[in-house]
Amino acid sequence: MTDFVKAAETSDIPAGRVKVVEVDGKRIALCNVDGEFYAIDDLCTHDDGPLDQGELTGDVIECPRHGARFNVRTGKVLALPAVKPLGTYALKVEGTQIRVALP
Ligand code: FES
Repeated sequence: MTDFVKAAETSDIPAGRVKVVEVDGKRIALCNVDGEFYAIDDLCTHDDGPLDQGELTGDVIECPRHGARFNVRTGKVLALPAVKPLGTYALKVEGTQIRVALP
């Protein structure tokens, strides 16, 4: 059975914003897309740029280093120079708590 670990409160992350949390030693970026939350690795697959410093527009995040873009729902690459998809994590909201599934 998958363990969902408390990562943040919903009030910590306004719509359109990203917050990094550490869960089980991993940096995970929590993204608020119009009230829906998504969890991705906080490392760009191009050259390890910190994605929480990037711009979130709708469900697309742009890496601040060289401009790669990813869909935060699926991890899919939308723009070079990244070619590998981002790691994503299952997430659920219980009350006001955002809980992330550990790999
Ligand atoms: S490190 Fe993200 S685009 Fe290069």
